[in-house]
Amino acid sequence: MDARDRLRRYLEQRREMGESEFALDSMSVEEALRVIGQGPGAGGRGSATVTPTQGPREKPRAVEEAPASADWREALRAAGSAPEPPRRAEAPTPAEPVVAAQPTPVEDPRAATPSAGAPSELPPGIVVPKPAALGLSEIESLPSLDAIAEMVKKCTRCPLHQTAIQGVPGEGNPNARFVCVGEAPGATEDETGRPFVGAAGQLLTKILAAINLRREDVFICNVIKHRPPGNRNPLPNEIAACSPYLVRQLELIRPSVILALGTFAAQTLLETKESIGKLRGRVHRYHGIPLVVTYHPAALLRNPSWKRPTWDDVQLARRILDSSPAAGA
Ligand code: URA
Ligand code: URA
Repeated sequence: MDARDRLRRYLEQRREMGESEFALDSMSVEEALRVIGQGPGAGGRGSATVTPTQGPREKPRAVEEAPASADWREALRAAGSAPEPPRRAEAPTPAEPVVAAQPTPVEDPRAATPSAGAPSELPPGIVVPKPAALGLSEIESLPSLDAIAEMVKKCTRCPLHQTAIQGVPGEGNPNARFVCVGEAPGATEDETGRPFVGAAGQLLTKILAAINLRREDVFICNVIKHRPPGNRNPLPNEIAACSPYLVRQLELIRPSVILALGTFAAQTLLETKESIGKLRGRVHRYHGIPLVVTYHPAALLRNPSWKRPTWDDVQLARRILDSSPAAGA
């Protein structure tokens, strides 16, 4: 696959994820021009066919002399294949109101009405109602976060305890109004027994600081409490065995907002297969609690262009926090 095919595939994937504004910011102008056949290393082709956003019935358009531009988007636009010019300034501005990138129409019968603090222009979110307590597991009646942590440390409900060093129940303020939920402990978390303390965790701490939250003020945990070997994706039986702990943690804390970090946490909590690109930019309701979805910090480390949408997401979460009555305060 040549570079143009890779670029086309990349743009198509991003579009499938519901993005309309492509931020290829890690690509230099020269590189982008080369990729579309305009740059010095493009093999002497004065024109190239690039059809990233065209439907199957549209004819490929030939690129005529893309102007040399300081902005790779201009070059792509000139090639007839570019995203529309962004409607907003590129640089995140803290005071800027959050607007969903491109509202995706959602025909979900459980669609939420906009929550307090949620701009009304956001598309509706998913509502996951609180199920009736079935009394099937003793986890449902654990009296405190400490009691949950104690049980997690001894847990043998799924085979993950056999390969992990220890359980990682989560940590933070038991009265937190802001809860972050990740996927599962990684190697550093397994070694320390603490959530989000490796590279992704350090980035999470910075993201929280950017919205004026200290780690110790919030509560941080994962859907899965023992590390899956080699960080593989959790299996359905592991999710089923472990999720009652998270359900109980959220029930005891009852925060003002939940921030779901990454596809796995978002899809598990919202009981959906919708992509993260479609789930972010909306305010969902989990057992009555507003829930915002964003990219996992580990994904941000691999893909810095997701920092911008993540910034929008965490500001949305911050606004919900600010607009909700301070519980117990
Ligand atoms: N302030 C707190 O004390 N806790 C939170 O979770 C958020 C704001
Ligand atoms: N990734 C997660 O999802 N959770 C952690 O605790 C660490 C990394």
